[in-house]
Amino acid sequence: MIQERQRLPSGPVGLPVVGYSPFLGQHPHKAITKLGDKYGSVFTLQLGVNNVVVLNDWEAARDAFNKDAFLGKPLHTAFTVLTEAKSLIDENGDVWRDQRRSALQVLRDLGFGKGSMEERIIDEISYLTKCIDETNGEPMDIHEVLVPSMSNNISHLLFGHRFDYNEPRRKIFDKFLDETSSRFSIIGTIAMSPIWFSKIFFKLGNIINRSGFDAMVSIFESEISSHRKSLDTNNKRDYIDGYLAEMEVRQRKDPNTHFTLKALDANARAFFGAGSETVRTTTEWLLLLSAKYSEHQKRIHEEIDSVVGRDRSPCYADRLHMPFTQAFINEVMRYKTTIPVNLMRRTTEDTSVLGHFIPKDTQVLANIWAVHNDPKVWHKPQEFSPKRFLTSDDKEVIKIDAWIPFSYGKRNCVGETLGRVEVFLYFVSLLQKYTISAANDEVLTLEERFGLSLQPKHKPILIFNKRY
Ligand code: HEM
Repeated sequence: MIQERQRLPSGPVGLPVVGYSPFLGQHPHKAITKLGDKYGSVFTLQLGVNNVVVLNDWEAARDAFNKDAFLGKPLHTAFTVLTEAKSLIDENGDVWRDQRRSALQVLRDLGFGKGSMEERIIDEISYLTKCIDETNGEPMDIHEVLVPSMSNNISHLLFGHRFDYNEPRRKIFDKFLDETSSRFSIIGTIAMSPIWFSKIFFKLGNIINRSGFDAMVSIFESEISSHRKSLDTNNKRDYIDGYLAEMEVRQRKDPNTHFTLKALDANARAFFGAGSETVRTTTEWLLLLSAKYSEHQKRIHEEIDSVVGRDRSPCYADRLHMPFTQAFINEVMRYKTTIPVNLMRRTTEDTSVLGHFIPKDTQVLANIWAVHNDPKVWHKPQEFSPKRFLTSDDKEVIKIDAWIPFSYGKRNCVGETLGRVEVFLYFVSLLQKYTISAANDEVLTLEERFGLSLQPKHKPILIFNKRY
């Protein structure tokens, strides 16, 4: 460990076994960013028993993520304690490349990024607005209904159908995901590697609701099994069908292929985890920041009224005529970066970042929050200012390379297109219908809770007044 450390960039010294983790506090993304003042943009941090190289600004993140050597994943993470099958999020090398390529192909075949996907999302939003309408302008905890709403979009993608909000199966996996994401943090998952350490920690800390996890696994298994019975390879209904069809072809060519039912199960669960909470958290911040900055909300209302009007639902193409709305969304995704520290990477060969030598098999963490608050890129990054994404005449949206909420490079977010479409359609549909305000001052503090994603600390209790 000490020898390993000597080969790595310098950094703060931590305690035996737990490393620097206890000093990172409630907001590790900010604490790590601050360490950059002393140690620069590339340094080593001991998290648990692991030495992790941190990329702490845009220059360092860009330099690393342009290199294939940084595409690896740790061989064990806290999640591999739960199940031996790895999803494409945890896979390495050719298996990862192949599973990722195939997932993207299935998404394209299913029309993701096209109109059919948008229709389904708009349909799902109609269930949400029905619930909101029932509140008649009384305060409501929007989190409670956004959870099932967002996970239904992923249910559609995976299983080809939605679940009623009150359906017991839906409640099982929503509860599991919600609980896990608030008990866990990315930093925690790193500090809990290697596997023996996580096993002890899980037992002592009752971190994972094992029965909730098992119940979720059995729902996925039963969906996969019913899809196998009704599979028609000429008419693929969803991701499971697409994967099963690909698996059939692969297994005919090579019985040892890595396209297996176990991998399908792991991928499907990974999509669920990665694709519902992220979009939900982003949407919660969008609504909270609209409530806080009513002058911005007014401008978005005006843009919606002139581009979409009141008689039809919004579509993703509308964004091209809505520069302020787009700038507002971009700024929210910068200011409240959904995944503030990126998922862990591992170097697959000896390499370097900005001249610092990084040996093979080093764990690497990009601090996306630091990139989004890098004063070399952003003017007064601590201020919330949608204008930074607009040209001086306010007519066009400016593309800023250091805006990387979906990460950057060849291993960026697989669901970026779906995520962008969902965020836009949810936000614009809700503002088309309602004026949003906060039910109390606590909501408007915009305090954060650092879990698997960066969530609002206080329940997002909001008031939705119908606009017409
Ligand atoms: C606002 C919404 C979202 C945000 C902010 C987001 C962000 C991210 C980030 C930061 C990563 C890490 C990439 C890296 O290692 O560099 C990631 C990976 C991933 N995301 Fe998303 N995501 C979102 C929505 C989605 C959706 C809707 C899906 C699924 C349909 C999804 C599926 C995945 C998967 C499978 C990976 C792993 C990719 C790989 O390792 O090759 N995400 N996402």
